[in-house]
Amino acid sequence: MTMQLGAGRPNGLHGTIRVPGDKSISHRGLMLGAISTGTTVLHHFLTAADCLSTLNALKQLGVDIARDADTVTVRGNGRHGLHAADQPLDMGNAGTATRLLAGLLAGQPFNSTLIGDASLSQRPMTRVERPLAQLGAQLELTDGHLPMQITGQPLHAATVQLAVASAQVKSAVLLAGLFADQPTTVIEKLPTRDHTERLINAFGGRVTTARDRRTITLDPNNQLSGQTLTVPGDVSSAAFFLTAASIVPNSHVRLEKVGLNPTRTGILTVLQRMGGHVTVTPRENPGEPLGDLDVRFAKLRPIQLGAADIPAVIDELPLVALLAATADGISEVSGAQELRVKETDRINTIVTELKKLGVAITEKTDGFIIDGRQTWQPTGQPFASHGDHRIGMMMAIATQRLDQPTTLTGEKAIGISYPTFWQDLDRLRNGAGVLA
Ligand code: S3P
Repeated sequence: MTMQLGAGRPNGLHGTIRVPGDKSISHRGLMLGAISTGTTVLHHFLTAADCLSTLNALKQLGVDIARDADTVTVRGNGRHGLHAADQPLDMGNAGTATRLLAGLLAGQPFNSTLIGDASLSQRPMTRVERPLAQLGAQLELTDGHLPMQITGQPLHAATVQLAVASAQVKSAVLLAGLFADQPTTVIEKLPTRDHTERLINAFGGRVTTARDRRTITLDPNNQLSGQTLTVPGDVSSAAFFLTAASIVPNSHVRLEKVGLNPTRTGILTVLQRMGGHVTVTPRENPGEPLGDLDVRFAKLRPIQLGAADIPAVIDELPLVALLAATADGISEVSGAQELRVKETDRINTIVTELKKLGVAITEKTDGFIIDGRQTWQPTGQPFASHGDHRIGMMMAIATQRLDQPTTLTGEKAIGISYPTFWQDLDRLRNGAGVLA
């Protein structure tokens, strides 16, 4: 499908929005609710395709889940209450859901099969199979990919050293560890998002993180109990409008109640280092940090990012590229080879799409180099999401700086994480609730 994009450059983006709930927290809230005793209520749950894949999979595993708009009620089955599904669990496009469920299902007294769409079926699954095997799990992959057959097994204690900096893999091990006989320790390469650790503790479990921020220990001997939570706005969704307001002259946008977990806010650090105009107003919130973000147009400086910077900004690297494409100098991103195994090979799709804008960008094996001083000269080719939600949204934001209308193919992918993206963009283009 192809979509006509906008009527050209707006006179700035203006107004206040509340972005949908955090994808990572929505997945985890459902899974922990499912294995808790009692009821879990998730307000501001992300009702996007990826999280609905998790919701449907858990229903197939015998969990009673009701949804009313963005409020979800999970009647937990308790730690030993999941049942075998009678069909393979179709995880759609959702990498996080697949890897986390692999961990959750590894220690169940029944077998499961996970399948997914064409993109998910090409993403590496050995990264969960190997560490879970150290706990005694039995996962059979298809040439390293989905379909995945899980033969449920009793799991035992282990100390697992991870080969990739991945919160999905860490979380798979921790969720499996909930069903092991003794404490599980995970040692990360670099600290990654810690929502699983925070949520297990919020549900009454016990996870501790050592001072090095990389060594995490889970004690399985606590019963989890249902919770009522409000999911913070997804900072990865807010990042599209942080970027839009930063690069479209005359903009002033406020994003309310955004999750500000420090393992996720690399984009704020990047914007601050680039000379962006962002003000953070924290709000009181138990569990996950939360706040409002005010952002205005700014003339940006270039930036250099290396491996240690990447986990906190992993999903926002397409936007870092876009910001760099407007900066007054040469930016470089290195150590980001994980981008090659996302919903698309994002190094390649970022480079392909930004080249269509006329951006001076060079592909590296582990990142890219961008000279932002060159004026954009769009080639006129239609932009494409390549079936990747974040690439589609990156290009929709980029075109806000163009005078001429453009087209985007594969726009449907945006519903994977941000179903109300176009409404929010229109609202800001039309200056809803203009700010001073
Ligand atoms: C996620 C972790 C990250 C991120 C993904 C969500 C999570 O993936 O890119 O969008 O919720 O754990 P990796 O763990 O593979 O880096």
